[in-house]
Amino acid sequence: MIRRIQSLPGRPPGFLYRESKQGIFRHKRKFVLHCDEIALPKLVAKYGTPLYVYSAPMICERYATFDRAFRESPHTICYSVKANSNLSILRLLARRGCGFDVVSGGELERVLMADRKAAHKVVFSGVGKTREEMTAALKAGTMLFNVESESELWALAECAARLRTRAPVALRVNPDVAAQTHPYISTGLHKHKFGVPIRYARALYAKASGAKSLRVVGVSVHIGSQITDVAPFGEALARVAELVRVLRDDGHRIEYIDAGGGLGIAYKEPERSGFAKDAASYARAVSEPLRALGVHLLLEPGRSIVGPAGALITTVMYRKANDGKRFLVVDAAMNDLIRPALYSAYHEIVPVTYPDSDAKVEVVDVVGPVCESGDFFARDRELPPIEEESLLAILDAGAYGMALASNYNTRTRPAEVLVSGKSVKVIRKRERLADLMRAEM
Ligand code: LLP
Repeated sequence: MIRRIQSLPGRPPGFLYRESKQGIFRHKRKFVLHCDEIALPKLVAKYGTPLYVYSAPMICERYATFDRAFRESPHTICYSVKANSNLSILRLLARRGCGFDVVSGGELERVLMADRKAAHKVVFSGVGKTREEMTAALKAGTMLFNVESESELWALAECAARLRTRAPVALRVNPDVAAQTHPYISTGLHKHKFGVPIRYARALYAKASGAKSLRVVGVSVHIGSQITDVAPFGEALARVAELVRVLRDDGHRIEYIDAGGGLGIAYKEPERSGFAKDAASYARAVSEPLRALGVHLLLEPGRSIVGPAGALITTVMYRKANDGKRFLVVDAAMNDLIRPALYSAYHEIVPVTYPDSDAKVEVVDVVGPVCESGDFFARDRELPPIEEESLLAILDAGAYGMALASNYNTRTRPAEVLVSGKSVKVIRKRERLADLMRAEM
């Protein structure tokens, strides 16, 4: 397991085992998981568990790799804030010239707090924007509104008219393309609530261009998340390209195509082939159908930028066996990372300190303290024997981890730290019980 993690091409520099200096004898050598230059037990000693740890260089590296993959097309990357909305992470990306995809007034506010100047690189998506949110986004100077229904279009027109401005608009079309992913995060079929059916789009564009306070500038599409076969992206964009040709013939000036997000990551180790390769084949699938159109491409990646750059560190509190079934009860729970409970998602789990020898494995369930049988991180997982008090790292937790954390069971949410080389920054303090109760007093 150690060798495999050390050689993973998708994890530079991020999370690596390094040999601990302490053992003199070979059989006592230990390998300790580091985030960049920092040994995780050192972080835990200072900040406790459960703890979210992110590698800043890995986030930057993945952003740069994604950006490079699209170098042949004029484009803007609008990082999808929902994946991980921590202000420090937004600031890190903003400094590199990244734009943002937001789906609420709250996310917009975060982007503005991270970097006021980023507003002109913000796309506002979402099926239920309120008038207040649209007004705030117009005032901030948002680059593009991805509108998802006719009613929303008129609401936006009204808000823009009131501010005596014109809202830049794309319709999010639903291309009726199936993507192989979990049903909860698949969005591109007509049965889903998202977008307007592509065959009605032409008529709606005609109506939109009649409104003085709207400026029709783009077409947008997003077919789902955690998609690892890039063919459906190509299919969706081919349909969008066809629509753009029709719209241009109708006289619309379509400058932008927003291809949404959705590029998946390899949560399971054998599927990992390196991010540069994955990003390149995704870029080919997306840009090929648009080649002759001369549009500015917008991309909304979330998971693929931050997912592998984060891990959730947890302490094993108790070992227990119920009739031969073995459990490791850890101090993190479904409220901290809900993906396994909600989507039966697989996250690789590794011991933070790994023995040098290839010790035998045991089959365990890794579970949290919350009062639900769905509160697990792994079922029937092979792990080396883990003692009580030792640390585990739940990998690939940088996206949709902390962003979906809750206070279920009145549990305070974890702290988050951002590591860069040898430097460590607490980017979110551990919540205290007083923080939870405050609004109820
Ligand atoms: N753009 C739009 C319009 C979206 O709805 C999403 C994700 C993205 C971009 C970013 O997609 P990404 O590149 O991260 O796949 N909680 C789920 C994922 C929900 C995704 C929702 N929309 C999970 O943990 O798997």
